[in-house]
Formats: sequence, C-alpha cells, structure tokens
Amino acid sequence: VILFGPANKTPMNPILEGLVTTLNTNGTVNVSPMGPHVEEGMRILHLRPFQTSETYRNLVRDRTGVFHVTDDVEMLARAAVDRLEGEPDLIEIEGVPAPILAGACRWFAFELHTIDDAHPRALATAHVTQQGFLREFFGFNRAKHAVLEAAILATRLPLLAPAELHAQMNQWRPLVEKTGGPAEHRAWAFLEGFIAEALTAS
Ligand SMILES: Cc1cc2nc3c(=O)[nH]c(=O)nc-3n(C[C@H](O)[C@H](O)[C@H](O)COP(=O)(O)O)c2cc1C
Repeated sequence: VILFGPANKTPMNPILEGLVTTLNTNGTVNVSPMGPHVEEGMRILHLRPFQTSETYRNLVRDRTGVFHVTDDVEMLARAAVDRLEGEPDLIEIEGVPAPILAGACRWFAFELHTIDDAHPRALATAHVTQQGFLREFFGFNRAKHAVLEAAILATRLPLLAPAELHAQMNQWRPLVEKTGGPAEHRAWAFLEGFIAEALTAS
C-alpha cells in the first residue's frame, strides 16, 4: 500500500537502436538492427530477438555477438530487410568472437548470460566483455530518425494495414526531404521501393 508519494517504480532502461553482428553456421556475418534495453554504463544489454530471427538462432548457438552504435541508417535500413549490398567492411579483434562493423561508431562485444524463450520475443541478458571506439557519432538528424522509423515499418509489413503504413510513411518523408543528406535519401528510396514491391507481391 502506498501511503504517500509516487509509486516507487524503477524506470525502465532506455532502448538503444543499433546493429548486432553474429556468426552464421557457414562462417558469414549476420547483421541485424536490434534495440536492446541498455543499463547505465553499457555493461549489460537486455536483447529481445524474435525467435524467428537469424540473430536469435545464432545467439542461442554461440551465446556471443557484437552490438554496434551507429549513425549509418542506410546500412540499418538494408540490414533490417536482409538486403545488404555484399558483406560490409569488418574488423577482427583478438578475443572478440563475432566480427566488428568497421563503419560503426562504437562496438560492444557481449556474452549471453541468460535467455528466456517463454515468449515469441525472447529475452536475452548479455554482459559486455570488450568494447571499442571507432569514430564520432554524427549527432541528431531528423532524416536519420525518419529512416529508422521507416525501417521498423518495413520489418512489420504483415502486421500493418496498407493505409496505416502509407500514413506513417507520409509523416516521415518530409523529414528526409528537408534534413537528409545523400545517404538518407538513398536509404529512404530503397525502403520505399522495398515496401512497394512487398505490397504488390502480397
Ligand atoms: C531500429 C530497429 C530495431 C529493431 N529491433 C529489433 C529487436 O529488438 N528484436 C527483433 O527481433 N527485431 C528487431 N528489429 C527487426 C529485425 O532487425 C528484423 O526482423 C531483421 O530482419 C532480423 O534479421 P535476422 O533474421 O537476420 O536476425 C528491429 C528493426 C529495426 C529497424
């Protein structure tokens, strides 16, 4: 019973959208956008991969991966729908089990401590074992944010009514037009093309 004051609720750790690399069984790298809840200091990541994802399967098998902070929304958009153009530039560091994306800003190699598969979206608690800095983060940009939102929409097409999808895309498009650079324009055009193709096919 609360006698006075606000309920003593621990605030949720924020989600940090980034790219996770894991190793596929054939030795190639799998790159997927994932948004773990991150604990302060980035020592623990609470990943929530759908059990249908390749990332989930690789994590269950190897229990390791690398989480990347990046501002490269073009790679994020393509990776979200499994349309990367070739293998991205990678860095291998001794003791880091999965490859590191050379174009990322920061990387965090992690080991899974627990994985709970009671729900379609599993909950994996990962401890960061090594980390590194590659380059500065660009900073806030509304076009990058718009591309990120559109990439999320592109991964949820079966769950969205076309009218809702178009309404959301129309809401984000002006941000790309007004504030994007060439990479954001390319990423946006790619996602629009991907979505149009998927809608025609369905
Ligand atoms: C910004 C962003 C965040 C995402 N976060 C998650 C996530 O936390 N868990 C998840 O299962 N999928 C997430 N997705 C969707 C996956 O990236 C997408 O389903 C991808 O195709 C999975 O690839 P994989 O099967 O190679 O692992 C996210 C997508 C975007 C664009």
